Amino acid sequence: MTRSKKPVFTFEAFAGLTTSLLALLLVVLPAVTLVSGCGNQVTVKGDDTQLVSKDVTKGGREAIYPDDKPSEPDGKVVYEKLSCAECHGTDGKGVSGKTSVDLTSASYMHKQKPIDQYMFLAFGKDGVKHPTTLADISSQKTWNLVYYVRSLAAPLLSAKEYAAVTPVYGANCAVCHGPKGYGDGPLNKYNVLEPNPANFQNYKRFYDRTDDVLFDHIANGIKWEGMPNFLGKEDKTKGIKFDEPYIWKLVAYVRAFHSTNKQIAEANIGSPTVGAPIDNSKEGAKAEDAKPAEEKPADAKPEEAKPQGETK
Ligand code: HEC
Ligand code: HEC
Repeated sequence: MTRSKKPVFTFEAFAGLTTSLLALLLVVLPAVTLVSGCGNQVTVKGDDTQLVSKDVTKGGREAIYPDDKPSEPDGKVVYEKLSCAECHGTDGKGVSGKTSVDLTSASYMHKQKPIDQYMFLAFGKDGVKHPTTLADISSQKTWNLVYYVRSLAAPLLSAKEYAAVTPVYGANCAVCHGPKGYGDGPLNKYNVLEPNPANFQNYKRFYDRTDDVLFDHIANGIKWEGMPNFLGKEDKTKGIKFDEPYIWKLVAYVRAFHSTNKQIAEANIGSPTVGAPIDNSKEGAKAEDAKPAEEKPADAKPEEAKPQGETK
C-alpha cells in the first residue's frame, strides 16, 4: 500500500505528479471558488501566493501614467535625491567601473522608449542589479526622472526654439494634429481621416515610441495612413527647409506635448494658430488677384464663393 515501495513512484515522478496536480488545481480552484462562493477561501489564498509568481500576477508591475506632463527640472531634483550620480555621474556620462551606459549619447537615447525606461527605473530588470525608485518616490516622480534622464542626451527645445517652431507646426501639422496636438485639426473636422491624426497628448501612445520612430514617421511619413513625408520639403512662406536637423526639432516639439522643461513651462507659450495649407491658398489667390466669379463656373458652390466675395 505504501507508495514509496513501488518503483513507479520515484521522487521525480512524484514531483512531476505533484506539479501537474498543482497546475490542475490552479485551473480548477478559481472555477470552484466561483461556483461554490463559500469554499475554503483561506486555502485558495494560500495556494495563490505560493504558486503564482510575481511576474504572473503583474498587478504590481503596471505602469501608472502621469496626470500631468512629466517635468525635466523636477526629474533633476529626483536624480540628485536618489544619488543616481554615484554611478552615472552628475552629467550622465557614467562613472567608470560603475556603469557602461552613457546617458548623454544621443544615438543610445533615441532608441529608448520612455515606457521601457520607466519600467526599468520603477521595477528593475532581471539580471541587472539596479536601484528601483517606486519604494522611495511616486510614479509621477519616476516619470519626471525618465524625462530628465532623456534630456541628458536629447534635450527638449529651449523656449526660444520652441517659439520659433510653433508657427511652422501651426502651418504644416496643426491642420491635422490640432493646435494643441489632440489630433483634432480642422482637416479632420468631419472625421474624414482614417486613421485619425495621432493625438500627441496621448501619453500612453507616445511613451511607447522611440525618438527614432517619431523621426522616421515625420521624415518619411506613414504610407496609406495620411501622414505626409516632410524630409527634403520646404515651407517657403516660413523660410524653412525640412532637413534632418529640422526634423529632429519637430520630434522635440512633438515630445513637448507630453513632457515639459522649465524654459517652455516658464515661457508659457500659447498654442499655434492653425495655418499653412489654408494660408498658402489664400496668399496664392491674393497674389493673382483672381476673380473667383470668372474662374468658377456658374455651378460653383455658393458657400465657397461667398467669403471671397465679401473680401472685395
Ligand atoms: C550602484 C550604481 C547605480 C546607481 C546608484 C544607479 N544606476 Fe543606473 N545603471 C547602473 C548599471 C550597472 C546599469 C546597467 C547598464 C550597465 O551595464 O552599465 C544602469 C543602467 C541605467 C539605465 C539604462 C537602462 C537600460 O536598459 O538601458 C538608466 C536609464 C539608468 N541606469 C538610470 C539611473 C537612474 C535615474 C538612477 C537613480 C535613480 C540610477 N540609474 C542609479 C548603475 C547604477
Ligand atoms: C494631412 C494630415 C497630416 C498632416 C498635415 C500631418 N500629419 Fe502627422 N499624422 C497624420 C495621421 C493621420 C497620422 C496617424 C497615422 C497612424 O495613426 O498610424 C499621423 C501620425 C504622425 C506621427 C506618428 C505618431 C506615431 O505613433 O508614431 C507623428 C510623429 C506625426 N504625425 C507628426 C507630424 C508632424 C510633426 C507634422 C507636421 C510637420 C505632421 N505630422 C503633419 C496626419 C497628418
